[in-house]
Amino acid sequence: MKNINTIENFTGKIVPVELGQRSYPIYIGSETLDNFGQCFKFHCKSKRAIIITDSNVGPLYDKIIKASLASVGIEFYTITVPAGENSKSLGVVSKIYDDFFKFTVERSDAVIALGGGVVGDLAGFVAATFKRGIKFVQVPTSLLAMSDSSVGGKTGINHPCGKNMIGAFYQPAFVYADINTLKTLPEMELGCGLAETVKHACIRDADFFDILEQNQDAIIALNQNLLIDIVANNCRIKAEVVAADEQEASLRRILNFGHTIGHTFETVLKQYDYHHGQAVALGMIAANDIAVKRGILSQEDSIRIKKLLADFKLPIDVEHDLPIDDMWQALLQDKKIEAGKIVFILLQAIGQCIIADDLGEKEITEAINALHK
Ligand SMILES: NC(=O)c1ccc[n+]([C@@H]2O[C@H](COP(=O)([O-])OP(=O)(O)OC[C@H]3O[C@@H](n4cnc5c(N)ncnc54)[C@H](O)[C@@H]3O)[C@@H](O)[C@H]2O)c1
Ligand SMILES: [Zn+2]
Repeated sequence: MKNINTIENFTGKIVPVELGQRSYPIYIGSETLDNFGQCFKFHCKSKRAIIITDSNVGPLYDKIIKASLASVGIEFYTITVPAGENSKSLGVVSKIYDDFFKFTVERSDAVIALGGGVVGDLAGFVAATFKRGIKFVQVPTSLLAMSDSSVGGKTGINHPCGKNMIGAFYQPAFVYADINTLKTLPEMELGCGLAETVKHACIRDADFFDILEQNQDAIIALNQNLLIDIVANNCRIKAEVVAADEQEASLRRILNFGHTIGHTFETVLKQYDYHHGQAVALGMIAANDIAVKRGILSQEDSIRIKKLLADFKLPIDVEHDLPIDDMWQALLQDKKIEAGKIVFILLQAIGQCIIADDLGEKEITEAINALHK
């Protein structure tokens, strides 16, 4: 691991994120939270920490994190925000800044995000902006946060005009994931993390896809060693892509596989409450439909992906009406438009993808319509 120092006695896997001066390690273990304080002291050299967590995760895990910090002499404060996407707002950020001033937070203090992707994005944004940036650590507790959102340094909040529209690239000092926390994660949220896992395998790693296919039951049963490997594979794939293109100028766009159409389910079909991973599953199926029709992806690979998503209890079709015009308009508003062209990630095979910008309205709306049962 170039340029990345790590603690020595960690009993799990460590994945490096190689970003020059901003490189950092991701620790992935099981039942390792009580060692967090030691790792914090090693990486942050701060005397005080502000733990930002949510109303579901805090009651479950902040005690163990606080005890671990106290055991190495770190002072801490805790800020708990309501669980859910609505906390990624300017209003909540503003209240957190107020608390930071109340606690006289200094530049040498560190923010600890304890929770899922919502807390990670929110706390990361606060850390990036308070006094022009204070240290930031992620303790992801959802599979999505461990496998996706805590890697790569995108932080941010939502605006009424769009999701994740206000934000900053800001890398943490380290990430510390304890797979054991997934035991309390609702099953549907586990599925959402698995959607991003399937995405990573589809765009970069056919062998990883085989592992997912062959171990579905053990994954759903939360076999700890297997999940450490799965989270590590996710982090390795995302870290490689981010290391090649931190600010999403080119390669990083492949991480948007399934997200272009997926986002329209989240934004247009609010009444059905699609969670991110569920929407991405539908988006991947629609993108594969386009790729099969173009003759660049085999029907067989497309069916394997659909089956794996269904086995992970993710939606693969919809029963309700699809407001195609509204979904098309939402697509045109999306960040993935470049110079008037919609950028799409299409698979050529499981493990290989291309970036396409020549898709037309007919091709895309047909693929969305094909999701109807
Ligand atoms: N920064 C990035 O690169 C990136 C990438 C993907 C997604 N995201 C963002 O991540 C967010 C989604 O993340 P998420 O799916 O983790 O959502 P989330 O943070 O809302 O967590 C999902 C739910 O699970 C609960 N939870 C989390 N861990 C738990 C645990 N161990 N036990 C019990 N309950 C637990 C949370 O309280 C919440 O109710 C979105 O806002 C999305 O925009 C960011
Ligand atoms: Zn995603």
